[in-house]
Amino acid sequence: MTQYKVRGGHELRGEITISGAKNAALAVLPAAILANGVCRVENVPKINDVTLMLEIMRDLGVSIRLVEDTVIEIDASAMINIPTPYETARKLRASYYLVGALLGRFGKAEVALPGGCNFGGVRPIDQHIKGFECLGADVKVRNGLIKAYAYNGLTGSTIYLDMASVGATVNIILAAVLAEGLTVIENAAREPHIVDLANFLNRCGASVRGAGTDIIKIRGVKKLNGCSYSIIPDQIEAGTYMTAVAAAGGDITLQNVIPRHLECITAKLSEIGVFVEEFDESVRIVREKPLKRANVKTLPYPGFPTDMQPQITAVLSVANGTSVITEGVWDNRYRYVDELRRLGAHITVDGKVAVVEGVPALSGAPIHASDLRAGAALVVAALAANGETRISGVDYIERGYENMVEKLRGLGADIERIETETLVAPLLELVVS
Ligand code: EPZ
Repeated sequence: MTQYKVRGGHELRGEITISGAKNAALAVLPAAILANGVCRVENVPKINDVTLMLEIMRDLGVSIRLVEDTVIEIDASAMINIPTPYETARKLRASYYLVGALLGRFGKAEVALPGGCNFGGVRPIDQHIKGFECLGADVKVRNGLIKAYAYNGLTGSTIYLDMASVGATVNIILAAVLAEGLTVIENAAREPHIVDLANFLNRCGASVRGAGTDIIKIRGVKKLNGCSYSIIPDQIEAGTYMTAVAAAGGDITLQNVIPRHLECITAKLSEIGVFVEEFDESVRIVREKPLKRANVKTLPYPGFPTDMQPQITAVLSVANGTSVITEGVWDNRYRYVDELRRLGAHITVDGKVAVVEGVPALSGAPIHASDLRAGAALVVAALAANGETRISGVDYIERGYENMVEKLRGLGADIERIETETLVAPLLELVVS
């Protein structure tokens, strides 16, 4: 079993480059299915979730060519519309974007119900289904599959989302760009990756207006052409390294960021005593003073990102004073707290609220990552902890972080990827599951 072995207590210094945004790539890549021609996509992150998405697309007959390290050419003109491979698709949350893309292109989709990180609660898709049905599709979920058929084609409609769902907003855009007439999404998600998807589709010839606001208007067009496009930098990857230096101390610079996408994270880190300097495409983060407490409430963009909630909790575990974290997006996103407690954190959780009493220092211990961002938070905490921490479940981390060990070593962290005896794995899994 693969683990990260971290010896904490070292400050971080140096400069790293942020990769393309996972959640933008996972929307743009399947969107290329809608284009009648070659799409050249640059700044694609080298992460396992992207590998899985490309594997599913290849199984559907999409031509995928790796041009350079992070540059992919996608040609879906000869693809066939068959049900997606069940076992592969169920591993990936974002595989459900193939429903919108296949429905939009062929008027029919059969996709395995999504998997992905389980925070201990259900990850529903009722808003996605509502959107498809408003466009005229017949949608059934049975035998572990989402089956959507638009026997008479898709027709634009107005859809009001019960909550600003990122996934539902993406999926409705994918289904609507080739539909007949105007589609209006009200209470749409405003995340940067929604804007990135709209920019990509418009580059292909679509008409998507208002992305980044809560009302998005899509006027259907007859066809989309291939294009060249570069994925935006990953705001959550950048935020994760910002919290790493906040927890461990030091002075780092992140290249290839969009500071505007980091505003809420920057504001919160500044509030607790971290110095953040913004440049055109980079940020410098310095933490030399003891950290102050703060309250955090996660909200849809432009609020504090839920995908940064575990990481900021790890930071506040070693701040002076008591902080209150309120999770405003997911029902149960505190499973990682038990693992932070093994490092000596003083955290109590009641429903969506975590109360964090800062401690002078954490101490290393063997811990286990239960999902992607939980794993990132455990790394952040381990970097601040005295002594050695071994983190298992790193497969989760590598779903969404490109070369995390190499990047942290580039900042002077004492972290390495190790293989342990497989004997331990089943026992450990048994204990932590
Ligand atoms: C996307 O998930 C991201 N994943 C998540 O990031 C992120 O946490 C989330 O958006 C919120 O920003 C990808 O982009 C691949 P939602 P998604 O639909 O689309 C409820 C990461 O770490 N809801 O915005 O699944 C839902 O239960 C991952 O990169 C419904 O009730 O999230 C949740 O409470 C983890 N019905 C809230 O809305 C629906 O049909 C937000 O979910 C859809 C969602």
